[in-house]
Amino acid sequence: MSNYHIKNFEEYFQVYRKSVENPEGFWEEIAEEHFTWRKKWKTVLKWDFTKPEVKWFEGAKLNITENCIDRHLRTRGDKTAILFEPNHPEEPSEHISYKQLHERVCKFANVLKDKGIKKGDRVCMYLPMIPELAISVLACARIGAVHSVVFAGFSSSALATRINDCDAKMVITSNGSYRGDKTIDLKGIVDDALDKCEGVKTVLVAKRIDSEINMKNGRDEWLQPLLDEAYSDCNIELMDAEDPLFILYTSGSTGKPKGMMHTTAGYMVYSAYTFKNVFDYREDDVYWCTADIGWITGHSYIVYGPLVNGATTVMFEGVPSYPDFGRFWEIVEKHKVNQFYTAPTAIRALAKHGTKLVEKHDLSSLKVLGTVGEPINEEAWHWYNENIGKKKSPIVDTWWQTETGGIMITPIPFSTPTKPTYATLPFIGIQPALMDENGNELKENQVEGRLCIKAPWPSMARTIWGNHQRYKDTYFSAFNNMYFTGDGALRDEVGYYRITGRVDDVIIVSGHNLGTAPIEDAINEHQAVAESAIVGFPHDVKGNALYGFVTLKDTSEDRNHDNVRKEINQLITDRIGPIAKLDKIQFTTGLPKTRSGKIMRRILRKIASNDIENIGDISTLLNPEVVQEIKENSL
Ligand code: WTA
Repeated sequence: MSNYHIKNFEEYFQVYRKSVENPEGFWEEIAEEHFTWRKKWKTVLKWDFTKPEVKWFEGAKLNITENCIDRHLRTRGDKTAILFEPNHPEEPSEHISYKQLHERVCKFANVLKDKGIKKGDRVCMYLPMIPELAISVLACARIGAVHSVVFAGFSSSALATRINDCDAKMVITSNGSYRGDKTIDLKGIVDDALDKCEGVKTVLVAKRIDSEINMKNGRDEWLQPLLDEAYSDCNIELMDAEDPLFILYTSGSTGKPKGMMHTTAGYMVYSAYTFKNVFDYREDDVYWCTADIGWITGHSYIVYGPLVNGATTVMFEGVPSYPDFGRFWEIVEKHKVNQFYTAPTAIRALAKHGTKLVEKHDLSSLKVLGTVGEPINEEAWHWYNENIGKKKSPIVDTWWQTETGGIMITPIPFSTPTKPTYATLPFIGIQPALMDENGNELKENQVEGRLCIKAPWPSMARTIWGNHQRYKDTYFSAFNNMYFTGDGALRDEVGYYRITGRVDDVIIVSGHNLGTAPIEDAINEHQAVAESAIVGFPHDVKGNALYGFVTLKDTSEDRNHDNVRKEINQLITDRIGPIAKLDKIQFTTGLPKTRSGKIMRRILRKIASNDIENIGDISTLLNPEVVQEIKENSL
């Protein structure tokens, strides 16, 4: 038997050692014993980071939905697979058993086929957190179509960019969505986007709210009547281990979003194995991750990881503040949630509202707490530990990325002693390295450097859709023969890792990655704007907030600055989405630049963070005088 479930700290070290000394042997054993394959692989691993090329389980044939659904039917057919908790607390929750999930996924897959979707075609989902989202993802995987879920908070133009980048043929959406006490017209956003997307032939529309929408003849169809007609069984498509499973977009520091492409077998094995161990999942547990399936956390740890393990996974449609800030705890009590996985920004927002709403609820079912998406500050960690975990539930601070597909650095609960703000130790099979700026590995403890990974792991993204060169340049060129994460980290005296934040121009706001370049592009579209630069500054709930420095074309023009501020934020909302709005906008006569014309964001970052004493040497700037002006007028 392989060590599928790690039981203590000593065993963690043993298994870890085995996994890095003989990765192929290790992963082969895990893959063989715990998954369903239609044909075995010829080679476990082939890799070359200089190309870069990584292949896991080459030669194997499988379908991930057979592993997520079919193989549980005999033993867990009536067990709840997806537990849907709607936005309105009065609306009944829905328990979808493995049997029902099988039927609903099969029907959906048959609808996709009827509409001409074939293996390898790309399908875009722009849906709220309703069962149709998880079901459509699985339906694509069942027939070998590549899903590309776009978070339903993105604007129509951000959606259009993503649809066109991967040439999606079909969009699946809903007539609207609930968000707290508001409704959002998702179909209207899709209609706007599709003005710019000629390749989309079909739009399937789930009905979620009562609303009047336009249905375009020959393109748009209501989903439910098609499902009602569809046959309830659908054979799996046999997939190669390295066939694409999905594309998921993430922000880059420059240019358009990167469509990270994940493939089938390695992703399945790693998301399942991490899920089991990081959350200490046991057969009858109820597991809840509050992320949206529009992000990687939802892909790996709401859908695939839990379902491959035959788990019960909660899917929550709403927001933590509706009808009040006790909603999360009400749901934990209602469904007796055992594992709870959320983002530091949510913890900080809830902590602000005190503990009264926490104390109203029985949280005794909780066993493991998790966080993801950004560094967790000490105060939030202690609040979570004391008030939610009652100092009994270990907190797993999990570091990973859209690109990594699964959790990379994390404590193993009940094994790894936790330490506030530390993601602690690498997961099984993961070999981190800290690098200095000259490309040397820092081998000792008590060092800080750029975080890299030295060897492949099964769920790493294989490329950026349509742009392998960019994949190579972004992740494999900064350091020789290593995957570069874009994050900085420090290692303490015992070897624990603490992620310190991005070292590139990506800013994490409320756990969402935002590239500075697309936001600046949106601002620069304003007719009065000459130039702009965005930096992050610390914010007590969001982690970071955005600060924009903007120069206007005509500085003498007597414009109402507050109006320009509003218009700038409206442009950002239109181009990207409300998540990218700026908290502060300072107008200035110039931006600090190097002699070669590069904006010195380092200086702007210090000013935005109110760290004016430590600006450092500015004598080499082209225009040192603007620094004084910016300092004096900082907000
Ligand atoms: C950050 C989310 C500190 C990090 C799964 C990373 C974290 C980026 C943590 C990826 C953590 C994620 N501690 N920072 N536990 N988890 N990050 O692609 O900067 O949405 O590079 O994936 O979030 O964000 P993404």
